[in-house]
Amino acid sequence: GGAAPKQSKKVDYVTVEDFGSSILGRLQKLFKTAIADAFPGLDLPLLLAETPNPQFGDYQCTSAMPIAAKLKSTGVNKKPGDVAKEIEAKLPTNVDFIEKVNVLPAGFMNIFLNKDYICKQISQLASKGITLPKVAKKRVLVDFSSPNIAKEMHVGHLRSTIIGDSICRLFEAVGFDVLRVNHIGDWGTQFGMLIAHLYDRFPDFLKKLPDIADLQAFYKESKKRFDEDEVFKKRAYECVVKLQSHEEEIVKAWNTICDVSKKYNQIVYDHLDIKIKDVGESFYQDKMVELIKWIKENKPDMIREEEGRLIMFPSECTVPLTVVKSDGGFTYDTSDLAALKYRMLEEKVDWNIYVVDAGQNLHLESIYAAGRDLEWYDINIHRVEHVGFGLVLGEDRKKFKTRSGETVRLLDLLSEGVKRATEKLKEKGREAVMTEEELAAARDAVAFGCVKYADLSHTRTQDYVFSFDRMLDDRGNTAVYLLYAYARIRSIVRTSGITDAQLAEYVSKNPILPLNHPAELKLAKQLLKLSDCILQVLDSLMLHQMCDYVYQLATLFHDFYNECYVIEKKDGEPPVVHFHRLALCEVTANVISTCFKILGIREVPKM
Ligand code: ARG
Repeated sequence: GGAAPKQSKKVDYVTVEDFGSSILGRLQKLFKTAIADAFPGLDLPLLLAETPNPQFGDYQCTSAMPIAAKLKSTGVNKKPGDVAKEIEAKLPTNVDFIEKVNVLPAGFMNIFLNKDYICKQISQLASKGITLPKVAKKRVLVDFSSPNIAKEMHVGHLRSTIIGDSICRLFEAVGFDVLRVNHIGDWGTQFGMLIAHLYDRFPDFLKKLPDIADLQAFYKESKKRFDEDEVFKKRAYECVVKLQSHEEEIVKAWNTICDVSKKYNQIVYDHLDIKIKDVGESFYQDKMVELIKWIKENKPDMIREEEGRLIMFPSECTVPLTVVKSDGGFTYDTSDLAALKYRMLEEKVDWNIYVVDAGQNLHLESIYAAGRDLEWYDINIHRVEHVGFGLVLGEDRKKFKTRSGETVRLLDLLSEGVKRATEKLKEKGREAVMTEEELAAARDAVAFGCVKYADLSHTRTQDYVFSFDRMLDDRGNTAVYLLYAYARIRSIVRTSGITDAQLAEYVSKNPILPLNHPAELKLAKQLLKLSDCILQVLDSLMLHQMCDYVYQLATLFHDFYNECYVIEKKDGEPPVVHFHRLALCEVTANVISTCFKILGIREVPKM
């Protein structure tokens, strides 16, 4: 156990400059202003959401009820229905996107969108492409993946890698300045035994990179010797001392071990299209020395000696941080303190995000509390936060392991995915209609896309069960389903016989697309919600919300496609192309493609 304080105040880190097509964002702004005008100083959260039932409009505001209750507590008696009427009276009239607001006696305010507005927006998306909401630029550091060198990257790191990359992609999409940082565990006393073991096992390591197929096993071997062999143990300690004093050959040995590990990790990153920069624990070697000096000089009250260790109790923390061990060495706490200081004061980031498993929350919150005590950042300006996630479980709902109980190697896992994806495509008879290259592209998109999407589509904070069967099911909320939907939509446009230029000309001549069928309008409204979705995920950093969005979009597209002819073929007559529907297809494909980019899923035009 133990507790650390959470940063109480959360800075609004997304300052919206232009809502773009975000209807929810614009509605919220309108209603907030109207409520503040009608009932100043109440300070209640706005309740405004989409309605599941079209009978109640497209959106519904239910703020009148809590407002009436609050007024009552101050002695003012007003029925919710009357409160709602007063809010309505303060809403500006003739807002382009609102058709009407129906106020019910119980206080519900049902908001109906204007159809022409929707038709106009879709026409614009078709002519100008997808535009995202504009938000004020921020400098963000995302610490993700961050495996440890000697031990192999495991599924926990895979989750961090997938979630962290997607968060970076989202930030990049809205124009933030993003630092993608791999805080790899490449420093510490365990390197002594690894180096000593390297000398014995691969004496010619200076001449060629040793072929250590299994770093995990190498680690275990050296650990065993360390625990059983006193002479070896002594040599290992000597190696640590030599490494810390930067003795050339020992540094080379250390580098060799890091290179072997990084080479392996890079294969995983390449498969998953991950870009990341190494700024590992070793980067802070000298900075940790300076840090201790700095604290002793500037904040001596914050640290104290206990049993030879130097410890620190950040405000409200019940477990101390160990800043210097009794043997003089540094710890995981020390490197994280040095990293926090560096990120806030040298890199000068606005937000500093750690995508790390939920089990490390206490450690991270204690580091953040220390950073606040040491005045490295200001919670009114900066945001430093742990983006945690749950465990990856096997289908038996226990910790994910191989059948023999070993940690699953990530490359084995990904190859298994490729094998399964190949089978899946075969089963569908795709090799008959696709070239070898197309098939390979589809196979990899399915294999890696499904692993990523399965992770992202589950609520981040919960544990999730890893199941190839489920993630490759083409009827569920999976990457396969979406990749098929996407390819299908692209092929509708491609095989329509209409050129891009023809479609562009049609759209420019029809600034208000004639969308009349209910299925067309439903699809159109969902398309306009992309901006809402992006703003929501920017705030929550919960990517399953984007997965839900794009899945629903694909589903609504299927409904539309079942009910409406895009190309109508009648016997003996030339086919009729419904241009406005073709435009709807095009916008849908582009919105899905935008989501794929953020989710890190490779799109393929043919499946
Ligand atoms: N290397 C650590 C691990 O594998 C994760 C590091 C996360 N980042 C950090 N700044 N502590 O558990």
